[in-house]
This record gives sequence, structure tokens and C-alpha cells, in this order.
Amino acid sequence: MITKTHFGTLEAGKEVYYYTMKNAAGMSVKICEFGGAIMELRVPDKYGRFADVVGGFDCLRDYVLSPGYIGALVGRTANRIKRGKYKVDGKEYSAYCNNGKNSLHGGKVGYSHRVWDVKAVDGDEPKLILTLHSPDGEEGYPGNVDVKVTYALLSSNALSIHYEAVTDQRTVINLTNHAYFNLGGYASGKIFDHILQIEADRYVVTDEELIPTGVLRSVEGTPFDFREPKPIGRDFEADDQDLKIAGGYDHCFCFTGGETKEPVLRVAAYEQNTGRFMQVFTNQPCIQLYSGNFLDNPEHPLKGGYPQTKQSLFCLETQKMPDAPNHAGFNDITLNPGEKYDYTTIYQFSVK
Ligand code: BGC
Repeated sequence: MITKTHFGTLEAGKEVYYYTMKNAAGMSVKICEFGGAIMELRVPDKYGRFADVVGGFDCLRDYVLSPGYIGALVGRTANRIKRGKYKVDGKEYSAYCNNGKNSLHGGKVGYSHRVWDVKAVDGDEPKLILTLHSPDGEEGYPGNVDVKVTYALLSSNALSIHYEAVTDQRTVINLTNHAYFNLGGYASGKIFDHILQIEADRYVVTDEELIPTGVLRSVEGTPFDFREPKPIGRDFEADDQDLKIAGGYDHCFCFTGGETKEPVLRVAAYEQNTGRFMQVFTNQPCIQLYSGNFLDNPEHPLKGGYPQTKQSLFCLETQKMPDAPNHAGFNDITLNPGEKYDYTTIYQFSVK
């Protein structure tokens, strides 16, 4: 079932709506036209009690103004590009620098801050098809890019996100979703006791500005080894330079073996008190684990007035490596005319 609700009005006068999808099992998800953001995601615990497991806001204004990209679709390129500079076919481009000296999540007005067109397709497995036209030169990116993101709520209690894009000129693209999870409920406190498993054998080392140095470090013997399940907090205070620089986890984990043709199981998160279990299937080569280290914006409280608090939510952003065009050996994020950018990530919920 899908319903459409008025959410607010942007300064320019544009009315913004959100859509609520619900399946027969009672799982529901709210998606906003602004940023294509996942605003709410309600899933049952082991006793059948539903809770909202993602961060979000009550007011449109907070989606517009709060830093954090809460729940949003991020593009044209996820994460940071050093000084905004990169080359396509030897020609240098400058993406808008909105994060100190660097460009973050697509620049000043990335896809996270645009209003998407939404088409609702109701049924047992309701779908929302979001589209966006990103014109040539937008935020310093070449090529007219047409993006299509399909959110589907599956009967099995999964949220599937299918990302597609085409371009009329060689360009770069790296899309993701920036949902912040806490499987105990978004207002249930710190994330440290979540048991996390990530099938990644390397991660991207970053400098003081969280820009990749070019080094892909083996997780072996480091706090970044999540190949066996462990609490997120277990090694959080470890004496590790990379963790300290970022103030926690804020790193791109490279899945063992890289990109796959079809989505495969790569990540699992488990919250012991509620029994909620989330598995992430994707065909992307990497995931950014962000432990919400910058979540402290008191002027933008979350739903119900709950404060944004560091490490009370975490993101699992499937993507390719950040700053990729600037490092030999990183993923190729170029898209050519005639090709299709085509990735799927599925967040599957159950209980244990
Ligand atoms: C990045 C963080 C950044 C955050 C913004 C994450 O994807 O890894 O460094 O602060 O997005 O909300």
C-alpha cells in the first residue's frame, strides 16, 4: 500500500510530499521527494514490536539545513573529492567544494538536496520510482545525467534500492544512500553493541581531511577487521592512527573480490536486545561504514525532538571508492554515453 502526504513547502514555494509504503507484514518506509530521503523505516523485533530504525526529521527545514545527509540519496559522487579536482579524458573539472577545501557528496546542491520526481507503483511489493535530471555542468560535473532510483518494499521485509543512470557525455558517477541506522530504534542510544560483520579484506586509508591517501590497507590485525562478527564498539578506542584521525569509523571498506554481477550478501548487523538483524546485499564493490562521528547538531533534532548524538546511528553506504579518479588502482567511476550505471542494494530485515 502507498499513501502520499504533504510534508512542507520550500522557500521557493515548491510543495514537497513524502510517500509511505507498507507491506502485508506491517513493515513500512517513508520516502521524501526532497533528497529521495528515507525518513522512517519501521521493522518488527523478535516479539513483533515495531520500531523506527533510521534517523530522520519531523520538518522539511531540517532536511534542507542540517548537515549529515540524513537518509538521503547522494550524488553525483558520494564522499570526498580532494579540492574538488578530478580529470575525465585528461580534462580537469572542479566539483564545488562544500567541505572545507574539498567536495563532499556532490557539492553545494547535490542530489540529496534536490526535489526528485516520484512515481508510485502500488502492489504487494510497492515501489517508488524516483527520477532526477542532472544537467551538464551541474556542481562542476560534465554531461547531462538522468538518474533513476527505485525503492521497493519487498514482502520478505526488505528494502531494495535500484540505482540507474545514463549520460550523454563521459562523466563520473558514484551514487549511494545515506540512511543512518540503529536497529534498537533510532532513539535507543549508542550503536556500540551492534554486532557487525563486513566481508571486506581492505579499507581505504584517509588523511586528516578524510581524503584517501591512495593506500588500501589490509584489515588483518586492525580494528577494521569485521570479517568475523564483532561489536562495533569493541575496537573503537584502539590505538590506531586511522581510527583516531576520523574520530571513529568513517572508512570505505573494499569487499573481498570486488564488484559482483548480481547483489550478494556482504554485511550483517545484529542488535541483541531486540533481535533485529539486517543483512546488506549489493553488487557494489565497497561500503562506507560511518559511525556517526559528526552527529551533534543540536539545532536540528531528530524525529520527536530526540537529539542528534555521536555514534547513536551508523551508515552503511554501498558505493565505489571515494576520490577514485585521483588514484591509480581505485575503482573506475566513469560512465560513458551508451552505458548504464546499474547497481542494487538490498537491506533485508529479520530477527534472531
Ligand atoms: C562521510 C562522513 C561525512 C558524512 C556526512 C559520510 O558519508 O563518510 O565523513 O561527515 O557522510 O554526513
